[in-house]
Amino acid sequence: MPWHIPADFRRVKSLTMGKPLVMGRKTFESLPGVLPGRRHIVITRDRSWSAEGAEVAHSLDDALAQANAPQIVIFGGADIYAAALPIASRIELTQIAADYPGDTQMPPLGPGWRETFREEHGAEGDRPGFTWITLLRSSPPACGRG
Ligand SMILES: NC(=O)c1ccc[n+]([C@@H]2O[C@H](COP(=O)([O-])OP(=O)(O)OC[C@H]3O[C@@H](n4cnc5c(N)ncnc54)[C@H](OP(=O)(O)O)[C@@H]3O)[C@@H](O)[C@H]2O)c1
Repeated sequence: MPWHIPADFRRVKSLTMGKPLVMGRKTFESLPGVLPGRRHIVITRDRSWSAEGAEVAHSLDDALAQANAPQIVIFGGADIYAAALPIASRIELTQIAADYPGDTQMPPLGPGWRETFREEHGAEGDRPGFTWITLLRSSPPACGRG
């Protein structure tokens, strides 16, 4: 990621600790290492792919079935967010108050979300300002998978 915001890493850690993380293979490979205290369920089409610390899945449904937990964290990237969005019930969003070039984008969230939390943080030195936002679904997810 093009920004470095230690407080955001800490928040991600506290929000995800103990919960299974479902992510695409590229997101897994972009991590500095396996994140302690969380299962990493990695989606790939490559039947021969494996990595230390990763549980392998070949579709979102497969990953959710393997996770088998009351709360499952969808950790990205773009296609995995898009696939999970219709069944997600909560979004923890960090908005960065700066423009960066990038090659990966969140899909549009669409209607049906209500904001329940917002906390703004100003810029400090080289670190951009950022806002934490929690969104909850205002109507039940599109199907009962999650
Ligand atoms: N800012 C954030 O919060 C955030 C969050 C997450 C990620 N990221 C960044 O986003 C980048 C990676 O995201 P990305 O969108 O490029 O990749 P990604 O979603 O992490 O991984 C893409 C890979 O996942 C597998 N995959 C995706 N959909 C699949 C499906 N339906 N069935 C089976 N396998 C599937 C494929 O793996 P194979 O090619 O192995 O088949 C595909 O190449 C990284 O730079 C990461 O740092 C940022």
